[in-house]
Amino acid sequence: MSILFNDKEKTFTIHTAKSTYQMKVDSYGFLLHLYYGRRTDGCMDYILTYADRGMSGCPYDAGTVRTYSLDALPQEFPVLGTGDFRSPALIVRDQYGAYECDPRYSGYEITEGKYSLKGLPAVYADAVSDKAETLKIFLHDEHTGLDVTLLYGVLPELDIITRSAVVTNNGDKTVTVCKLHSACLDFVSGDFDTITFCGRHAMERVPERQRLGRGAHRIGSRRGASSHQYNPFMILADSSATETSGRCWGMQFVYSGGFAAEAELDQYGQTRIQMGLQEDKFSYPLNKGESLTAPEVIMTYSGAGIEALTHNYHKCLRDHICRGKYKNAERPVLLNSWEASYFTFTGDSICALAHEAAELGIDMLVLDDGWFGIRNNDYSGLGDWNANEDKLGCTLSELIRRVNAEGVRFGIWMEPEMVNEESDLYRKHPDWALRIPGKDPVRGRYQLVLDLSRKDVCDWMYESICSVLDQGNIEYLKWDYNRSITDVYSHTASDQGKVLYDYMIGLYDVLEKLNSKYPDLLIEGCSGGGGRFDAGMLYYTPQIWCSDNTDAIDRLTIQYGTSFGYPSCTVGAHVSACPNHQTGRTTPFATRAAVAMSGTFGYELDPAKLSPSEKAEIKEQIKVFKDFGGLIRSGDHYRLSDPARDICCAWEYVSEDKSRALVTAVVKDVHGNMTSVYVRPRGLEPGAEYKMSFVCGSGKAAPIPEIVPADALMEAGFPLPTGFREYDSFVWVLDRI
Ligand code: GLA
Repeated sequence: MSILFNDKEKTFTIHTAKSTYQMKVDSYGFLLHLYYGRRTDGCMDYILTYADRGMSGCPYDAGTVRTYSLDALPQEFPVLGTGDFRSPALIVRDQYGAYECDPRYSGYEITEGKYSLKGLPAVYADAVSDKAETLKIFLHDEHTGLDVTLLYGVLPELDIITRSAVVTNNGDKTVTVCKLHSACLDFVSGDFDTITFCGRHAMERVPERQRLGRGAHRIGSRRGASSHQYNPFMILADSSATETSGRCWGMQFVYSGGFAAEAELDQYGQTRIQMGLQEDKFSYPLNKGESLTAPEVIMTYSGAGIEALTHNYHKCLRDHICRGKYKNAERPVLLNSWEASYFTFTGDSICALAHEAAELGIDMLVLDDGWFGIRNNDYSGLGDWNANEDKLGCTLSELIRRVNAEGVRFGIWMEPEMVNEESDLYRKHPDWALRIPGKDPVRGRYQLVLDLSRKDVCDWMYESICSVLDQGNIEYLKWDYNRSITDVYSHTASDQGKVLYDYMIGLYDVLEKLNSKYPDLLIEGCSGGGGRFDAGMLYYTPQIWCSDNTDAIDRLTIQYGTSFGYPSCTVGAHVSACPNHQTGRTTPFATRAAVAMSGTFGYELDPAKLSPSEKAEIKEQIKVFKDFGGLIRSGDHYRLSDPARDICCAWEYVSEDKSRALVTAVVKDVHGNMTSVYVRPRGLEPGAEYKMSFVCGSGKAAPIPEIVPADALMEAGFPLPTGFREYDSFVWVLDRI
């Protein structure tokens, strides 16, 4: 049993392999958080301190006791209205328009297996093989009749605890949920940093580490999508924590819409972190009997640095979020038409790409934007999902057959959630777009967002995708989403504050139906690159285009940041032409491949423009990727250096049994009279010896002995061969002997 209730102490204790989580129901029925950290036993309520705190409210039922205030006590699910003035997880507006409520403990339930969430993606796990369990704690507010169920899912062997909350109105009057977070953690002491993953279009998920001072550090998205700017993932770490030492806690949101994540250091030096729905443009009325579910947060704890936290997330996402045929399978190596020809192509030129792809051993040709409606630029066409036969010179079915006849598989791009004003769909159904009556909408890439909070729009979207997919042997769909949501107004919503949440429910419903109707289809998520790179989308699309920036050197930073929370098998990465279309930088072909191999791998260029030697290199690169793809997909990922700080960016995959490791190093920068640069692998088997061989890269093989003890490698590292040039790359395999 991972979940224990001690009736005498009124404590709930959750044990995973290396962590313990504990909370307590106190004598007033408040649920206090006691502990989340290294595995331990016993009741931890001695950590609570009570003092008469000035200006801190006390619950009415505490009577004359002035030393009990929720303003100072660590809570499990803080609610506005209980005398806690820190940031709450729940704000409810009652029948009088007042903003306070006071839910108290009313019971619990422990069951085998992991809960699921109606209409929302969530971690899945098996009661037997994963020993998964669920804890539900029930809270009830007398004043409004509101019930709150706190959900905890436990995957003990992975050190994963998931959280969610369901709010149900069991009172007679309508109440409105104004803020709903899914998870909160209170720490009574500690000196912490936050690590978040921030960026912008074409430069996503750059790690940002900040010392937490008084007040709140808050990130989030108001864009209706998880966003390029802030990934829905936050780490709280001891300020001394490193990759390999110190305590850290993670919160990762299984949701693709607006979110907020907060870390707050209070007046008494206590820290609160929490994550949940973005409250701007959100207010969700609940009539009698109605419920609202907070999307899931995946939490994990590591007492051994950030690397172990990463490993926990990678295993959880790979095996308990990603689903379907491609979950653990080899992914097709793609040739994507976007950077090869953008909007300018014909059916014949697409077939020529397919022909080249086949010659080079590429598995699949993906026809990107521009094949439908009137779409020769991004002003028009979105919503009209019928092939432009004039442009293609044939039907879509015929094109698919021709591509397949070249010996490659066929994939296609769609952006189903969007509509251009310049489209037949918009002319017919202007009310299907989110748009405020009488107000000119904010534009984004000349397109508007369809109102997926409406069932009729979702039904149309599902049918139009099916009608495309049914036109032939389409084995891959790139699902794009290229603007942020503004002008949130639905013609059919009972309350506009519900629209963004209901939008996500509609989107997930369509994705779920597509997954079950087309179990063999590989869907790759995309949002102007990596603007919706989150665990919510990964539940439906096991890979996501990581960034529109295909420059190998920028990708070092982007993929490094992405790796903290997400495994390489989810990271869409392609080799593109040089000078790079986003940065103008020229890098060695082998380096571009070495970087793209740490993702799903593919090409985004016109092979006809390559030299014979580059074409020969492609054949070799694909062979290398296929040889090591299994290790890259499933191995433990080690970040061996920090591209923001170090001259060389190095990383490593180690197989679960430690028999094989793949180490990649890319030189980011060079100077005159260079100092020597060392790479120190980690995760090898202590005491073992490894045979080290150079696999590929633009640099020369390192002049080190062929057989090297693991301990020496991990302790002293090995030098890059001297004389390396800017942007040189090196890939080595280490095989245990
Ligand atoms: C987005 C994607 C690109 C490409 C274009 C097409 O920007 O991220 O990869 O598909 O749209 O318009």
